[in-house]
Amino acid sequence: MKKIISISNQKGGVGKTTTTINLATSLAAIKKSVLIVDADPQGNASTGLGISYNDRKPSIYEMIHKKKLLTEGIKETLIPGLKIIGANTDLAGAELELTSFEDREFVFKSIFADINNFDFIFIDCPPSLGLLTINSLVASHTTLIPLQSEFFALEGLSALMQTIKLIKQNFNKDLRIEGILLTMLDKRNSLSSLVEKDVRHHFGDQVYKTTIPRNVKISEAPSHGKPALIYDTHAAGSLAYIELAKEVILNQNKNNE
Ligand SMILES: Nc1ncnc2c1ncn2[C@@H]1O[C@H](COP(=O)(O)OP(=O)(O)O)[C@@H](O)[C@H]1O
Ligand SMILES: [Mg+2]
Repeated sequence: MKKIISISNQKGGVGKTTTTINLATSLAAIKKSVLIVDADPQGNASTGLGISYNDRKPSIYEMIHKKKLLTEGIKETLIPGLKIIGANTDLAGAELELTSFEDREFVFKSIFADINNFDFIFIDCPPSLGLLTINSLVASHTTLIPLQSEFFALEGLSALMQTIKLIKQNFNKDLRIEGILLTMLDKRNSLSSLVEKDVRHHFGDQVYKTTIPRNVKISEAPSHGKPALIYDTHAAGSLAYIELAKEVILNQNKNNE
């Protein structure tokens, strides 16, 4: 059965795209069939996986207008088992255009209703709580929330939690939090450790045991159009994403018991 996971946080630069790419790659490496949906007009997930601009059509933008899946928009990546629906700047218009749709919150849900041949679908959300993120959350089983391990990590999280609550009340009662992921952790920095403690205190076992260290290989990889896991398999950051994939699978098995 497919599982749809939105990677969400309306803050930019917290590691949504990095987590989407590297978690998806880790799961593909253990023979799961995985689809990434790039739902950010910046198209960072597409770029990070080396998808050329010409290969990003039809994107989720065209699918929004047709209100259905266009299978020719599902593109291969360099990783066997990992596919992507790309995005480009056209998608910036969708945020406004969606407001005139009668079923504006349910468009992604109808698009993904027809997809059955994947174990996991990850939606890389844009840095806002607009209709693209709302559509992602309405279409998802769960959401994974990356938090940058910095002083302001928790700031803005209440707005996201409020949005999730409203979506549960109005559009998708079964939406759950997949997990909260601390990213860009610097163990030598005492502030980073304080933030980790604080987040764990607030959110308990919703927070993944795995944390993602700040790691230069992770930040270099996208400019090579490769996941960190392929760019440097043994880098601390790559290994952390493999650990995260294990935890995601373990939680999955627990929930299925
Ligand atoms: N663990 C990490 N270590 C070092 N750099 C990171 C790490 N995670 C993300 N980055 C870098 O931080 C920037 C923001 O990450 P990104 O995943 O694009 O965030 P978002 O999608 O939330 O905007 C990118 O340049 C990315 O390469
Ligand atoms: Mg991003």
